[in-house]
Amino acid sequence: MRLISFILPLAVLLSVSNGNPMSRRAMVVHESVPAVPSGFAHAGTVSPSQELTLRIALVQSNITALQEKTYAVSDPANALYGQYLTPEEVAEYVKPTAETLSAVSGWLSENGITAKSVSPAGDLLQISLPVSKAETLLATQFSSFTHVASGTTSIRTLAYSIPASLRAHIQFVHPTIAFVPPLVSKPGLTAINHKREPTNVVRASPTSGAVSASCAKTVNPSCLQEMYGLPTAKANNSASNTLGVAGYQGEFANQADLSLFLSYLNPGLKGATFSLMTVDGGENTQTISEAGDEADLDIEYTAGLAAGVPVTFISVGYNPQDDVGGFMDIVTAILAEPAATRPTVLSTSYGFNENDVPISVAVEMCNAYMQLGAVGISVLFASGDGGVSGLQTTTCTTFVPTTPGGCPFVTSVGGSTGLPPQVAASLSGGGFSNYFPTPSFQGADVSAYIASIGGEYSGLYNKSGRGIPDVALQAEDVEIAWTDSLYLVGGTSCATPIFASMVALVNDRLIAAGKPVLGYLNPLLYSPAGRAAFTDITSGSNPGCNTNGFSASVGWDPVTGLGTPNFELLLTAVGL
Ligand SMILES: *[C@@H]1O[C@H](CO)[C@@H](O)[C@H](O)[C@H]1NC(C)=O
Ligand SMILES: *[C@@H]1O[C@H](CO)[C@@H](O)[C@H](O)[C@H]1NC(C)=O
Ligand SMILES: *[C@@H]1O[C@H](CO)[C@@H](O)[C@H](O)[C@H]1NC(C)=O
Repeated sequence: MRLISFILPLAVLLSVSNGNPMSRRAMVVHESVPAVPSGFAHAGTVSPSQELTLRIALVQSNITALQEKTYAVSDPANALYGQYLTPEEVAEYVKPTAETLSAVSGWLSENGITAKSVSPAGDLLQISLPVSKAETLLATQFSSFTHVASGTTSIRTLAYSIPASLRAHIQFVHPTIAFVPPLVSKPGLTAINHKREPTNVVRASPTSGAVSASCAKTVNPSCLQEMYGLPTAKANNSASNTLGVAGYQGEFANQADLSLFLSYLNPGLKGATFSLMTVDGGENTQTISEAGDEADLDIEYTAGLAAGVPVTFISVGYNPQDDVGGFMDIVTAILAEPAATRPTVLSTSYGFNENDVPISVAVEMCNAYMQLGAVGISVLFASGDGGVSGLQTTTCTTFVPTTPGGCPFVTSVGGSTGLPPQVAASLSGGGFSNYFPTPSFQGADVSAYIASIGGEYSGLYNKSGRGIPDVALQAEDVEIAWTDSLYLVGGTSCATPIFASMVALVNDRLIAAGKPVLGYLNPLLYSPAGRAAFTDITSGSNPGCNTNGFSASVGWDPVTGLGTPNFELLLTAVGL
């Protein structure tokens, strides 16, 4: 075996174990963090015999071709529009090359390690081994670390190495250097009058086209039907059009809360239910006191709003196999679903601050959402509730973009508020990714916006990054039922399931017309026809990091994206 010479980077460690064949391989640091990230603390050593499960993400053979293909099938101007791939066809692009597989398995077998494939395309390998052996394999030393705010501990390291000859074959080995705080979702919750009489909410119908004045203070399904032109007639083509709602950290949605919600706020859908899928030990006790507020909100504004569309709640448990709370595991599970039950829309009201996720993981996640797009699934993520400070209001010196919203293959949903014409919700997460460059569908929008603000905030945000959000919907004063009571909640957590419902209802009409579903949305939304389905939001801003944040303005902006959508206009945009 040829030794590859290399310049020693800062922390290169060569294996020193005597007689170990590994010592013949030149090791090179593959990923590292400069220090223990803020929010985490070193919590001592780990036992060498403790068993670790690691995942090796292999380089995917043809990801650029899959990107091109995904854009082609999602772009209304392309001849391939709507010709979505099967998961098997996607796997052909994602699978590692034979060369990658043999190089990596050669390395593992010379260390006496057997890997199993844990993704349909075989691009993700899993190995289980004692800490001592993992330390030798990766020329590193693991320790225990605590996430201070939550008290959770994990085994991590600040740097690890792989043989230099494998750099072209391995994306990452995790969990190693990813210090990812627990997922954030929590909608801001305000108690409102508990146990109201259903008669309290029966209102006179507004005159055609108008929105009831009460919707300025309390938003419920009938307000949204008025605001966005959503249909009340039940969808007819439910068999092939499932809306998936992702819930994380063991949250489950409660059927009794959904029933209470419907009886008060949308009696026309009384009796609506949802089905369940579990990932990573997801829970579903249905004990009402344990119902998730996020989960209840998300199910009520899908099953309780998208009339007649079948909804599946995907409950992800506390044992994610990835570094990101199960975000990647859910994609694997969805791609493995039969076509009949695979969702056509996936709504997620959780996320991370981009800088909390290593770029290697953010890219892998983005490639995973691209795979969902390629098979015809619209992937929606809340843009965050902290304005330019990211998921939540925090102290910051530079603006904090959120992820996965920064991935161009997801549609990032921001927040708006008030009676039409709506204004930006000040909580609306927005800004520019540091990981993903501005995609071409958005190029003119992003440069026009940046030009319009001149030098303002220069240095606080990335002028060549993907801009978020893409769209904005109601994100304040939304009424939900939770643990047997009614509450008002706010956040892009509200806007996301509302938009998901709209997309699912458009899909229903498309199926009725014999057309393919919407799939990956952004190329359509940013097309001339797509833009025409939005009302531009031109006032309000998203303060954070001790600034006033970005301002909503004419055209796309990093507060409300393209603006707020209308159902009938979206139908027009897709030729219905
Ligand atoms: C990648 O995909 C393209 C388009 O399908 C195909 O022409 C090419 O041969 C593929 N390359 C590899 C390395 O599989
Ligand atoms: C479902 O079909 C019925 C009967 O054809 C029709 O009246 C109704 O408008 C349809 N619903 C939708 C959402 O298209
Ligand atoms: C800004 O975004 C570009 C494009 O994604 C990236 O290459 C660059 O590293 C980013 N800059 C910073 C400071 O993160």
